[in-house]
Amino acid sequence: MSNKEIVLLNQFVGEKTELHGDDPKAMLKILTAVEKASTNVHRTINKAGLEDILGAAGSENVQGEQVQKLDLFANEQFIENLKGTGYIAAIASEENEEIITLNETGEYLFATDPLDGSSNIDVNISVGTIFSVFKRTRKGTPKKEEFNRYGHEQILAGYVLYGTSTVLVYTCGHGVHSFTFDTKTNTFALTNASIKTPEKGNIFSINEGNYNTLEKGVQDYISYCKELNEKGKRTHTARFMGSLVADFHRNMLKGGIFIYPATADAPKGRLRLLYECNPIAMIAEQAGGIATWGAERLLAIKAEEIHQRTPFFTGSKEMMEKALSFLTKESEYRIQESEKIS
Ligand code: F6P
Ligand code: MN
Repeated sequence: MSNKEIVLLNQFVGEKTELHGDDPKAMLKILTAVEKASTNVHRTINKAGLEDILGAAGSENVQGEQVQKLDLFANEQFIENLKGTGYIAAIASEENEEIITLNETGEYLFATDPLDGSSNIDVNISVGTIFSVFKRTRKGTPKKEEFNRYGHEQILAGYVLYGTSTVLVYTCGHGVHSFTFDTKTNTFALTNASIKTPEKGNIFSINEGNYNTLEKGVQDYISYCKELNEKGKRTHTARFMGSLVADFHRNMLKGGIFIYPATADAPKGRLRLLYECNPIAMIAEQAGGIATWGAERLLAIKAEEIHQRTPFFTGSKEMMEKALSFLTKESEYRIQESEKIS
């Protein structure tokens, strides 16, 4: 192993101020809080199976899904640590129907899915935290409507992937930076200062269990991915973990496409705009990829409510262009929505 120079997260944020927007000091505080919270989540997840932290907490969240005990633990970690910064006025979390006020004088809003894909923990598969930050446009008691913003207004977006190693990936609109958790020192060290996704790729990630409920364009794209070349070999490979952060991260690094389209059961898609798709879309674009909801750039949607869902297509440029060429404008949902946001 080489003795590579170690750059810790707080050093990187503190020194590379040009990569951290208009208020690098605030970004440092917020990212440090994310770092602390995710360190605690990492530690706790690692004890899964040894302590009584697995399984359902016995209630449902606003999406009607079983809340896992670890969802609640992760949520508390982010709330507590962000509260301590003084910078966050309110949090919109997947775990809470209403926003949570942290600090009325805070200048920023934080949206998060504190533990995405949490049912995967029971079977030892990667999960993630997804987060997004907006600057407030008003002062005073935070209101839920303040989160009704365009995705392109995000000033900080990122995720933590609790995988074979724990990785924190974020952007403030000046490239994508990744840090890996060092379990010996309990710190996050820089592993890639500027991630770029390959323009081409061959991984397609979609839950094919939904195949018969998908619009024809998406079905046709899936069939296209399954075509063989002239030598009879496959042209694409399918990967779907059911853990958005893990699926996206792999595709970003290797080249691929992730699709969670509208389905018959979920005509507006399954994933949430504010705290799942928006942050991933900002990372995707900053890495040189594309993210849309089917007809237009995802970051051009203005949220209408904090738990809003959206269809989601994201990935490498060439694969995305190909996939979008299969989508007709026939989808009623897309036409209605594109009228709304234009
Ligand atoms: O919270 C959403 C999520 O858990 C994502 O991580 C994942 O991509 C998706 O749901 C999987 O959904 P499904 O089980 O419908 O394929
Ligand atoms: Mn989720």
